[in-house]
Amino acid sequence: MNYQWYPGHMTKAKRMMQEDIKLIDLIIELVDARVPASSRNPDIDELGKNKSRVILLNKADLADEARSAQWAEYFRQKGYFAVLLDARSKMGMGGLNGVIQEACREKIERDRKRGILNRPVRAMVAGIPNVGKSTFINTFAGKACAKTGNRPGVTKGKQWIRLNKSVELLDTPGILWPKFEDQTVGMRLALIGSIRDEILNAEELALELIGFLKASYAGLIQNRYGCAEDAEPACVLGGIAESRGCLLKGRELDYRKASAILLDDFRSGKLGRITLENPQT
Ligand code: G4P
Repeated sequence: MNYQWYPGHMTKAKRMMQEDIKLIDLIIELVDARVPASSRNPDIDELGKNKSRVILLNKADLADEARSAQWAEYFRQKGYFAVLLDARSKMGMGGLNGVIQEACREKIERDRKRGILNRPVRAMVAGIPNVGKSTFINTFAGKACAKTGNRPGVTKGKQWIRLNKSVELLDTPGILWPKFEDQTVGMRLALIGSIRDEILNAEELALELIGFLKASYAGLIQNRYGCAEDAEPACVLGGIAESRGCLLKGRELDYRKASAILLDDFRSGKLGRITLENPQT
């Protein structure tokens, strides 16, 4: 799904989040494990300041394992619960209920002292487009889920999914906007395919990616495409075009096609598990 964000859309999204946040105890925030900072909207910290929070580093199957561990630690140091996840698979979901209970322990304890027993934790999923919110809800809720329907007077128009006896999930995720005023963020989100390629052209993105890979994942381009990577990014892209037979009429190199191949290989994980940013960079 493509989103075009305008100030009006952002105000509306924020208003909806503010409304939904009143109904819940816990925000399950999804970020993309390949760009855990760029795929966050910092407004969530203000919006959800009195709520428990679990941060899911989703698409961890595509991200660098060592860096994902560093990111999880970084979020934990900030006081959040952090879990690595591949939302498409049930694997990794197993421990999540325990993490949710742990994150809401204070609230559960408060309820207990007031004599409220077994009131389920209410949660909502939030994140920028394309981080895997719908996929997560589908996998986490699974087939066993039962929609609880509207609750008259309290949550008019809201649907809750009862996950088990201790957790209820709002069935529509909160959609946040990315920080596109920051060019590096825009570039990284375009690299992972979260914002449209037209915003930045594919060749420009491919050259950025080559520069990054040479510096952070030396040897990777050479291994996959069999071309020298110890050269200017434009020459390396030419090498990829040659090795993949990307030629225009007149046997000129087709840089655009080579860019598309490189970006596709990166996005699909064929280049390997790669994380584009480190904590605090
Ligand atoms: P959203 O609601 O936050 O906008 O995201 P959505 O669930 O629609 O997921 C966006 C894309 O990311 C989907 O791919 C989805 O399959 C993929 N995805 C979600 N979670 C993971 C994950 O943990 N790992 C990987 N590798 N991919 C994930 P798509 O290409 O848009 O659709 P499709 O190919 O699945 O049909």
